[in-house]
Amino acid sequence: MTSQVEQAKDAAALRAVREHVYDGCRLGVGSGSTVVYAVKHLAELVTTAGLNVTCVPTSFQARQLIIEHGLHLSDLSQTPELDVVIDGADECDPQLNLIKGGGGCQLQEKIVAACGKKMVVIADYRKKSQELGEQWKKGIPIEVVPMAYVPVMNKLRSYGLEPVLRMAQSKAGPVVTDNSNFVVDAKFTAPHNWELLETKLCRTPGVVETGLFVGFASVAYFGMKDGSV
Ligand code: A5P
Repeated sequence: MTSQVEQAKDAAALRAVREHVYDGCRLGVGSGSTVVYAVKHLAELVTTAGLNVTCVPTSFQARQLIIEHGLHLSDLSQTPELDVVIDGADECDPQLNLIKGGGGCQLQEKIVAACGKKMVVIADYRKKSQELGEQWKKGIPIEVVPMAYVPVMNKLRSYGLEPVLRMAQSKAGPVVTDNSNFVVDAKFTAPHNWELLETKLCRTPGVVETGLFVGFASVAYFGMKDGSV
C-alpha cells in the first residue's frame, strides 16, 4: 500500500505538472523522490495530449528518468532558457526560501533553476515550515571542492554553523556529487538572515554552491495528509 507521504508527493507532483506544463514548454526537471512522480505524470500528459516538451535535467538521476520515460532530453548548451523548472525541496518556508540538496544535487539544481522563468516546488507536508530548520534537521547542504573541505569546515564553524562531511552509505568514504565534489551539511541552531548567510557562504573559497535557495521559487505545492494540495 502506498504510504500517506508517497500519496502526498504524488498529489503535489500531479498538480504542478497539470498547472504548469504546456505545449512547447522548455522544462527543467529537478531531482529527488517527489520528482519521480512529476516525471511519471509528465510522460502521461505528453503521451495523452501529444505535447512537445523539452526536458533539461538537474542530475544524473533526472537525466535517467527523462530517458526512461521516453521524453525529449536536452541540456543547457542547447536549451539555456527554460520556461518552468519543477523541483522538490527538503524544506520550504512561507517566503519560499528553500533548503535543497538532501540528494546532493544542489549545484545543478540551482544552475537550472537560475535559467528558469519560474521555479515550481513540489513536496509533501513534512517539508512545509514556518522557519527553515524547523523540519529539516540535517543542515544546509554545501557543495565543496574536495581539497578545501577542512578549511571550509573551519570557516563554517566561525560563522556559527556545525559542519559535517556527508559520508556515503554504501562505500567507505565521503559522498561524491555528480560534479566530483564533496558535500558538507552545515547544521544551525537558530534562524539566520538567509540571504546574508548565502552570500557569506558563496564568498568562502572552496564553496562551489549551497542548498539555500533564496529568491528562486515562485510557487510551492504541498501534498497534505488529508489528500489535498
Ligand atoms: C536533491 O539534491 C534535492 O534537492 C531534492 O530536490 C530534495 O532533497 C527533495 O527530495 P525529495 O523529493 O526526495 O524529498
